Amino acid sequence: MLADRKILVGATGGIAAYKTPFLVRQLVEKKASVRVVMTEAAGNFVTPLVLETLSGNPVSSELFPRQFASTHHIELARWPDLIVVAPATADFIGRVANGLAPDLLCNVLLVATSTVLLAPAMNTEMWFHSQVQENCAKLEKLGYEFIGPEEGKLATASEGEGMGRMSEPDTIVKRIEEIFSERELLKGKRIVVTGGRTEEAIDPVRYLSNRSSGKMGAALARAAARMGAQVSFVHGRMSVEPPQNTDNFLVLTAEEMQKKLLELYAKSDAVIMAAAVSDFRAEKVSREKIRRKEHLTLELVPNPDILAGLGKSKKKQKLVGFALEAGGGLGNGKKKLEEKNLDMLVLNRADEPDAGFDVDTNRVTLFFPSGKKEEVPLASKDEVARVILRKLAKLL
Ligand code: C5P
Repeated sequence: MLADRKILVGATGGIAAYKTPFLVRQLVEKKASVRVVMTEAAGNFVTPLVLETLSGNPVSSELFPRQFASTHHIELARWPDLIVVAPATADFIGRVANGLAPDLLCNVLLVATSTVLLAPAMNTEMWFHSQVQENCAKLEKLGYEFIGPEEGKLATASEGEGMGRMSEPDTIVKRIEEIFSERELLKGKRIVVTGGRTEEAIDPVRYLSNRSSGKMGAALARAAARMGAQVSFVHGRMSVEPPQNTDNFLVLTAEEMQKKLLELYAKSDAVIMAAAVSDFRAEKVSREKIRRKEHLTLELVPNPDILAGLGKSKKKQKLVGFALEAGGGLGNGKKKLEEKNLDMLVLNRADEPDAGFDVDTNRVTLFFPSGKKEEVPLASKDEVARVILRKLAKLL
């Protein structure tokens, strides 16, 4: 599976570095060529000799080695098909997020153009520290991929269990295999993804909207582009930044979203409608700020059902819709798929704290026209996005 793949493994200074040799060993067993770059701090947890023996290649760690090495950070950065840093410490993530390069590994990352996969490992409080989270969000936006961290036992008994444990080497290897196998899954396909929430003005300062964060749409758009698709991401307001590897179009209202989609529809192979579109808008938008009064009645009119409209005029395009349901509504998946003439419907749960609006994880059920139904267990929105796109790729 990884034969002839060139993988550069970076190791930074955290206790999880004791597992880096297992990662190297598994990659070599899968016939990848492996080189290792470690930071000085990583040397406190694992020796270069172990990594050299397992990788079969010299380990690099010094930015200015005594032996003549010319511009070895450039050569090292240009060599790999993929770079994986495991473990990636909070300090290392902070350096990379800020473009700093005090060591060889950071220099390599500043030059590299290949995919970079980071496997963070740290204590729970550190992981949830707002600066670490901000750094990760920044790196994600810049196109870095993440695996983990995961919940589980932390370094010491006093820390107990919590979030922050590095993903196991076999999980990391599996993700690396997926990255390679999915690189061209959607090559040559034009995919339109919608995300975020629409806003419908009531007066110059107020509007009707909803709590959609845009995370699911952004994850889909980013992942589709990584799989080789040409992605147009038509999004309303979001609580996250749109991806950088897609063509992004900001629209505010349902009608603006519909207009943009109709422009893009004829030339697209698929539309994934993850946006939370306001079902209603004010019949009349007040030109002036509405003043306080005893009673206010707002007259609302329905917005167009954009997706149902696309379903009606569908030719070769594949259509994926989302639905947010709770309790009794969970049986509506099939009905909605048929009503809107979709090729896949993704049903989100609105009644669970770890799924649906404004969280990083999701638990969905996929419905297909054949009547087939598939449950996707709780996973990150990035992983759920990849599951949806793998299914879509089979339909295209
Ligand atoms: O019918 P319901 O609102 O549950 O359908 C949700 C799906 O339809 C989502 O994919 C959403 O993006 C899309 N939708 C739409 N236009 C609307 C409302 C929802 O395209 N006005």
